[in-house]
This record gives sequence, C-alpha cells and structure tokens, in this order.
Amino acid sequence: MQPLREVTIDRLGSAGDGVVETPEGPLFVAGALPGERILARPLGRRGEGQAAEVTEILQASPDRVAPPCPHFLTECGACALQHWAMPAYAAWKRARLVEALERAGQPDAVVAELVIAAPNTRRRADLALKRLQGGAMALGFHQRGSAAVADLSTCHVLDPRLVALFRPLRELLRRMTALKREGSAVLNLLDSGPDLLLRTDGPIDAAQRAMLAAFGTAHGIPRIAWALKDGIVENAAQAGPVWLELSGAAVAPAPGAFLQAAPEGEAAIIAAVMAGLALQKLPVRARIADLYAGIGTLSFPLAARGRVAAFEGDAAAVAALDAAARKAGGQVEAIRRDLAYRPLLPAELNKFGAVVLDPPYNGAVEQVAQITRSTVPVVVYVSCNPVALARDAATLVKAGFKVTSAVPVDQFRWSPHLESVVSFRR
Ligand SMILES: C[S@@+](CC[C@H](N)C(=O)[O-])C[C@H]1O[C@@H](n2cnc3c(N)ncnc32)[C@H](O)[C@@H]1O
Repeated sequence: MQPLREVTIDRLGSAGDGVVETPEGPLFVAGALPGERILARPLGRRGEGQAAEVTEILQASPDRVAPPCPHFLTECGACALQHWAMPAYAAWKRARLVEALERAGQPDAVVAELVIAAPNTRRRADLALKRLQGGAMALGFHQRGSAAVADLSTCHVLDPRLVALFRPLRELLRRMTALKREGSAVLNLLDSGPDLLLRTDGPIDAAQRAMLAAFGTAHGIPRIAWALKDGIVENAAQAGPVWLELSGAAVAPAPGAFLQAAPEGEAAIIAAVMAGLALQKLPVRARIADLYAGIGTLSFPLAARGRVAAFEGDAAAVAALDAAARKAGGQVEAIRRDLAYRPLLPAELNKFGAVVLDPPYNGAVEQVAQITRSTVPVVVYVSCNPVALARDAATLVKAGFKVTSAVPVDQFRWSPHLESVVSFRR
C-alpha cells in the first residue's frame, strides 16, 4: 500500500475528481473539492497520473455540502458532485463550455447561464444487474471505476416512478433463471408509462415470459422487451401501445431507445436550438437538415420553421421517426444514413438553409469537415461532450463560422457531463 500524501486540490478535472499536480504527474482524487487540504491514498496509475482516495479532509472547502444520497461515492459511481454547493457547481459546468469555445478560437463568445434539471427528473436509466452469492440480485449503477454493481435502495437523480420499480424488479429478477450472472435493465419513462428492456445471459422460457407479463400488468409497464446479451431485441410481453409525445407528434420509441435524459433538459435544448435559428435570417420555409435525429426530438419542433430532412443511422429510431412523421402531416422526412461512413456531401448540404446536428459522444469529425466545404450559412451544434465540441467547433471556426449563441444545459445533474447548444453563422 502506498503512503498517504497531504495535498491541496488545485482544480476539478473533467471526470469530476479533485486534481493536484505532483512531480509524478497529476493525482486524481475522487470526492475532493478545489482548495481542500486532504490526506490522500494513491490507488494506482490512471492515464498520465495516479488515482487516489480521500482518507481525511484536513481543511474542507466552504462549498462542501452534505450529499443527499446515501449511496453517493461510497457505493454508487453514477454521480460525482453531490457534495458541491450549487453556485460553485454551476459555475464549473458553465466554465466547461466557455473553455471549449476558447479552445475553438471563440474566446469572446457569449455563454448563457447554466440551465439545471431538477433532482428526480431523469427519465432514462441503464441499470446493471449482478447475481450475488446465495442467489440475491444487485440492481443499480456501477461503482466508481469498477465492474461491481451498487445495489441501490434509492436514487436522487431518477424520476420516482422509475425508482419505485427498483425493489419489485430486483425481486422478479432474483426468481428468473435467465439471469445467471449478469445483465442490464434499460428503463425509459414514456408517456405510456415505464418501458423496460432486459438483457440477460441466459434464455427465457414460456414460464418466464408469463412472469414478465404479470410483472408488467402489476406495475403499469405496457411493454417488456428482452434480448440475450447483445442479441436481437424481442417483445417478451406487451399489454398495450407505447408512446411519447415529441412537440405534438406521437412517437413509439423502440425498446431502450435514446431519449434526452430529462424532460426539462429536452425543453431547454429545444428552446436553445429554436432561439439559435431565430437569430438568423432564414427564409420563411427554409429546408433544415436534422443530423443524428434519433426518434425526432428536434425534428418535430424544427418543423415549425420549415421542411425538415432528418438523418439517423439507427434503423429502429428511423422507423419510429418515420411512422410518427407520416402521421404528423409530412413536414419531416426520415432518412437512414450512417453519417460517419457516408456524411452528407457539400452538394447535398447546399440545399439546406440550416443544419442542426446532435452527434454521439465522440462528435462528428467527418460530417463537420463536409459542412466546412459547403455553403450552408447556419449550423446549430448540440453536444454532450465539451472535448468533442471544442474540436468540431474549431474546424467550423477555421472555415469562417462564428458563434452566435451558446447555452449550457445540465441535464445530467451531479455528473461531470455537460450538454451544450452552440449556434454558428458563416
Ligand atoms: C445524442 S443522440 C441525439 C438524438 C436526437 N437528436 C435526440 O435529441 O433525441 C445521437 C444520435 O446519433 C445516432 N448516431 C450515432 N452514430 C451515428 C452515425 N454514424 N450515423 C448516423 N447516426 C448516428 C444515434 O443512433 C443517436 O440517435
């Protein structure tokens, strides 16, 4: 075991750890806050530095507060920052977007105040499941930096309607032979009620399907889907339709579909996208490209500004978006396309008055490169990763785009993640 070290934390790192520079490289201390003097126990290498844990706080930050959740840090690794007072936390999150835009060559960009989703409003959970010795079932998020599962009794981030399912779901899974060692349960809270996708490491038989059907009826879950590890998803039990209203369109998302994490976050993202476009002089019935459209969270509100071509790579998402778009009256067209392998080319992009893109975590290198070669005048970039945003925004800025608005949205409350909506004009 390495000896304890007395250190003073310099800053918070991008994973939410307290960081202090040492001659051997940075020390990343989970649970420590900027300015705190602590005794830290090094735990082993992490990247260019070392991970460490706090053994004693010698001088606490004035911004340290009592975390609301009993599982925070000691067991559950999903939240990193429940112990930080809101003003300091909000300033740090907003600064992540300011720094990303500085790195992109836009140090004077005006960044709005952070929009923060309230506790207990997350509507999507990807829960890990692990069979314990004696047959019990652990259900929760992973422990920090570990494959171990924190067996949760509560959660201060998730919607209470999802938290209420923890106990009965754990009991159901304890009795299911399909779950031998491990699996996962994706819970999406739709307008039709909770939607459950179970992944197990063993097959389900007729008796287990009947158990799932009875569970769905008892807990108001219209659909329970099941898949063997990463296999094909099938409906194991469906008692009624599923739906989610997206700006007036009724969408039936596939099991486990991507949803924006919290309704408040989704509303803030849509408002920022629409405000970003409103700053521009788009023709009245402009054509708008919605890239990485998912099930159409942005496509349907964008339809209020013009005709929308919605491009998405996932077949199930495109099918859900297409069906809802047809019912909604034809302002939105859903197109399946892999935008990393086959990005929209300049000749295609030039038909649009504006491009909205909401890529996955790693950003959109190939697609952004094509945008810079096009004549598209307006780009609105929705990002869940400030590092990828900084890189892609730098590409746009080098090609002559300028930031016209920037809104940070905290829909992953208490995590180090940040959602941002940044609008650009050529
Ligand atoms: C952050 S989500 C945004 C979805 C949607 N805009 C929303 O707000 O709900 C990113 C989307 O990109 C899609 N995606 C990921 N890689 C892709 C690719 N190479 N080509 C096209 N779509 C992709 C995912 O399936 C997912 O729907």
